[in-house]
Amino acid sequence: MSKYPKGQKKSYKINCTDVRISKENLNCTILLLLLNASPYYLSGNEIANRLKVSRVAIWSRIAKLRSEGFCIEATQNKGYRIATEPKLINESFLKAWLQKLKTECSIFVLEKLDSTNSEAERMLANEIKAPFAIIANKQTSGRGRIGKEWHSPASGNIYLSLAFKPNIHAVRLRKFTLLQGISICKYLRKTTNNNEIMLKWPNDIICNGKKLGGMLTEAKVDCENIRSLVFGLGLNVNTKESSFPKSLQDVATSIYHIQEKYTRVHQLTANIVKIILKSYNECIKGVDDVEFVNRWNELDSQFGKIIHIISGKKEINGKAIGIDPDGGLIVKLKNGHKKIIHSGEIITTKNEL
Ligand code: BTN
Repeated sequence: MSKYPKGQKKSYKINCTDVRISKENLNCTILLLLLNASPYYLSGNEIANRLKVSRVAIWSRIAKLRSEGFCIEATQNKGYRIATEPKLINESFLKAWLQKLKTECSIFVLEKLDSTNSEAERMLANEIKAPFAIIANKQTSGRGRIGKEWHSPASGNIYLSLAFKPNIHAVRLRKFTLLQGISICKYLRKTTNNNEIMLKWPNDIICNGKKLGGMLTEAKVDCENIRSLVFGLGLNVNTKESSFPKSLQDVATSIYHIQEKYTRVHQLTANIVKIILKSYNECIKGVDDVEFVNRWNELDSQFGKIIHIISGKKEINGKAIGIDPDGGLIVKLKNGHKKIIHSGEIITTKNEL
């Protein structure tokens, strides 16, 4: 819930260079102006002058935004300000946030989808220009790794996929998912001020042993070149632990649980989209092996632990001692030999006795 200072006297004056006006999406532009003015009021006159439309037009847009779940306060002589934003993701407001963060990316927000990864693949097949991001407020068949389901209720979480057309050799994207994990984990630590948020190889974001988020990267490869790449992120943001189905209550957590308060999902989502785009570009350019390994190992919840891992049909026990430069998990076996695992799932973990 947003809280704003009370009893403020002045309205905000628009800085003419900070907003790109889009006639096609007036809602987004109005929201961006209000966002930039926040926590101050912005007068209807200023908005109308800036957008070269009548005050009545602004008033009717504000009414429309209120019907979409925004609580926009209006005070005589001061103007408008956003008091609370919708709990579910609103496309115009997310676009406003992305503009505020100076991040260019086509964004599509839907109330409900089977899976944002599946939709991204369909959109790529329909030649929608990449990169783009697709977000759903609810998924009916959210997918996890190894055929698992991703619980995706409409409770203010992030179900997001970014689609790319890299057209480069698959080798150059070997680090991709792990790099994304590193950047997202670091950002979540910073924004929640909680260093218990860690990574679990290869695609989990965890906190105190419970799953906070998961990543699912799917690629179409042609002659070893990656033609299309879809990166999916599911992040439990505002689901209360007690609202998870019984089967997940002991294994899943959320930012709501960590912070003990509701998180504004638009700002969080926009920052995450920005981070994913940045990490993608870093990965394409090439990342230093040592730096990559060190960055992962610092955040690795399994480092130094005794693990039981299933990789294909094999079951392996040993000590997790970090990753190699290709993102493979290094396991030290009982006989002292090291084994590198390229795909699999860590089933159990315990501290060394
Ligand atoms: C996992 O931990 O196994 C990966 C979970 C990935 C879930 C996300 S939610 C958005 C995107 N769409 C999907 O169907 N899956 C990913």
